[in-house]
Amino acid sequence: MADPFGLLAELTYRCPLSCAYCSNPLNMAEYTDELTTAEWQRVFTEARDLGVLQCHLSGGEPLLRRDLVALVASARDLGLYTNLVTSAVGLTRDKARQLRDAGLDHVQISIQADAPSLSDTIAGLPSFRRKVDAMRVVKELGWPLTVNVVLHRQNIDRIAEILDLAADVGADRVELANTQYYGWAWRNRDALLPSRAQLAAAEEVVRSARDRLAVIYVVPDYYSEYPKPCMGGWAARQLTVTPNGDVLPCPAAQSLPLPTASVRTDSLAHIWAASPVFTAYRGTDWMPDPCRGCDRREVDFGGCRCQAFQLTGDAARTDPVCHLSPDHAVVTDAVAAANSAVDLTLIPRPHR
Ligand code: SF4
Ligand code: FES
Repeated sequence: MADPFGLLAELTYRCPLSCAYCSNPLNMAEYTDELTTAEWQRVFTEARDLGVLQCHLSGGEPLLRRDLVALVASARDLGLYTNLVTSAVGLTRDKARQLRDAGLDHVQISIQADAPSLSDTIAGLPSFRRKVDAMRVVKELGWPLTVNVVLHRQNIDRIAEILDLAADVGADRVELANTQYYGWAWRNRDALLPSRAQLAAAEEVVRSARDRLAVIYVVPDYYSEYPKPCMGGWAARQLTVTPNGDVLPCPAAQSLPLPTASVRTDSLAHIWAASPVFTAYRGTDWMPDPCRGCDRREVDFGGCRCQAFQLTGDAARTDPVCHLSPDHAVVTDAVAAANSAVDLTLIPRPHR
């Protein structure tokens, strides 16, 4: 068992946006008892002691935590590399300066599209202008900036313009992340899944943009022959702490029928090494056929446990994205539906 490398600290699930592709849990009411400042500081210390090097401060919208500056300072004092993952709603110049002074290392800002009307429609809030202003402030203050865009059927045709915008604000990196169909996004899957023609056009745009921009783009796994090596393997390098202190191997794992583990009752070291939620699918012993005898079992680790559960009701099955999976038809059926001509309306995520 290796040490964890990255901590995703989901400080709050509160969020001013209502994106239709949100993959955060649906049962938000269970996460309102948020960890206190002192509890988060203990989590950071235990994470550092466990070998964690990177701390991603995320949500929801982490800027809604009034103690964000103090939390950044604590993580930085422990020697953790700190990354703020934000919608930028609330990232005023004054707040940005405070975070800079606290030692924040990196900022990742999400946008929904390149144009105000489409971006604001997808986000469910007039926010595009504020986001672009915040990106410029981030660069003025000398931070490295990653622009993150969740891609789907409604914005994938705008990649060229999105990349132009990222270049214009001086982004150091653009992450084009295809939608993960968990949480609210699962309800909108058929309206979010792009068509094969859209993907082919997007790939061409990304290829030609790579000369001028650092672009991270991965083909959506519904269209891949093999699944993604989700999280680099279950409980292999990353851990997630939710707003109420539950600890998970990935941000979507709360949906799986596994016992919970909490920093309020156990140390991070014990949870990482011995809690059932971490040991259930670690390594390769749990694998069923065809993964068990497959020479890719240590390449993609049988794919994504959360997706296997979502699509088959059993997290211990081969990810149906794999063309060798006995359940692969559930994916090919969804892809066939996405390639029929129907355009569906997105349902925005309600607040609470
Ligand atoms: Fe990966 Fe399992 Fe498919 Fe092999 S059978 S490629 S290990 S998901
Ligand atoms: Fe949970 Fe892939 S999202 S294992």
